[in-house]
Amino acid sequence: MDKVVSLCRRRGFVFPSSEIYGGLGSTYDYGHYGVLLKNEIRSLWFRAMVQERDDMVALDSAVILNPSVWEASGHVAGFSDPLVDCRTCKLRFRADKLEDAHCGRRPSKRPGEDAQCDLTEARQFNLMFETRVGAMQDASSTAYLRPETAQGIFINFKNVAQLARRKPPFGIAQTGKSFRNEITPGNFLFRVREFEQMEMEYFVPPAEAERWYAYWIEQRFNWHLGLGLKRSRLRVREHSAEERSHYSTGTSDIEYLYPIGWQELEGVANRGDFDLTQHTEHSGTKLEWIEQGGERYTPHVIEPAVSIERIFVALLCDAYHEEVVGDRERTVLRLHPTVAPVKAAILPLIPRNDEMVQRAHALRDELRDRFFVEYDDSGQIGRRYRRQDEIGTPWAFTIDDQTLEDETVTVRERDSLAQERLPLSGVASWLEDALRQPWQPSDE
Ligand code: GAP
Repeated sequence: MDKVVSLCRRRGFVFPSSEIYGGLGSTYDYGHYGVLLKNEIRSLWFRAMVQERDDMVALDSAVILNPSVWEASGHVAGFSDPLVDCRTCKLRFRADKLEDAHCGRRPSKRPGEDAQCDLTEARQFNLMFETRVGAMQDASSTAYLRPETAQGIFINFKNVAQLARRKPPFGIAQTGKSFRNEITPGNFLFRVREFEQMEMEYFVPPAEAERWYAYWIEQRFNWHLGLGLKRSRLRVREHSAEERSHYSTGTSDIEYLYPIGWQELEGVANRGDFDLTQHTEHSGTKLEWIEQGGERYTPHVIEPAVSIERIFVALLCDAYHEEVVGDRERTVLRLHPTVAPVKAAILPLIPRNDEMVQRAHALRDELRDRFFVEYDDSGQIGRRYRRQDEIGTPWAFTIDDQTLEDETVTVRERDSLAQERLPLSGVASWLEDALRQPWQPSDE
């Protein structure tokens, strides 16, 4: 993990936030390549969940909702973790995760293990961030930053199902920021207080819920494989009854083997009719499906939910490699070409040669119409290749002496380092085709 964090910082994927003011624990800002990688993850999710399906619609609901939403959903009463304080070291810990925590004075020991530890009784700590709406300072102005995007979907069920006549089974998908005042954020982006969720609520006739639950676990598992994550580092783990959230009648985590061990990457839950029933009771608006013949029912809901951050960390950990090529070390991100932030680099071999630079500029201008590409003319060619390897660019096109003679370029492949020559005029279609090819991690 440390190597990935250091690469992210060195190459401008992710920076600790507010650093010039001493930072703000576990809060991060995304730099150029981080933004590009996040955009790819989001757009691949949206493509699979919405663009390629007939049974899905998109939504973008507000971050701050009427506080009654969170009463109805159970978050005001129950979205909490047990917390203990240590009066000696002044640190806070999750009472249910003490075995993973370190004492503030003696980090080799767990909280409570040292004679000087003085832990309080556990108390429930609500993870929602409170804010105020408008100028009034009384209790009526209290509102919350959403801790999940899901509730914005449930409260729009009527708009989509009844007004747009979407018949179950159908889904509503949205991506957007969620906020949780986590007691113990950490492990880089794995657990942060502000993260971008990608959630979909799939509304089904009650009798079909089990079938769709199994269907979505399989779909989502295969989607992560398709991103290029190694199969050996992915697994599905079904929650025990005690572990499940208050709304769930069945939950399975798609777990990834992070450097900190097997952890939840994505959760797939069978939420039954909990949410629609709760919002019907609290709002007085019936959230149900009415068949043509007049038969009514409250649909059950299957929910796959994941954050971009958890995928981001998994992709980088999976792709990070250090190796020796010839007598030189290189760091390479073996990312699936479709998620790589930059799809190709365009490099004039001799930057002082005006003709090479002109050809390279022309190729860059042609390619960037369709792909995110990067032009680089600073430093020796070997260094430029390694800079691109480090950010995961799958191909580099080099304009050299031969280009000026016969209108061909060299294409260098990131993982195998193989090189071949292509006609300059065919580079765009070659790249288009290369991006469509199946791709597998090399050391599965
Ligand atoms: N609507 C259901 C829900 O929010 P969750 O398991 O609490 O369920 C869903 O969260 C997903 O959101 C998780 O599988 C994980 O990918 C992501 N997630 C949750 N808390 C997170 C955090 N503090 N930092 C980063 N990602 C988080």
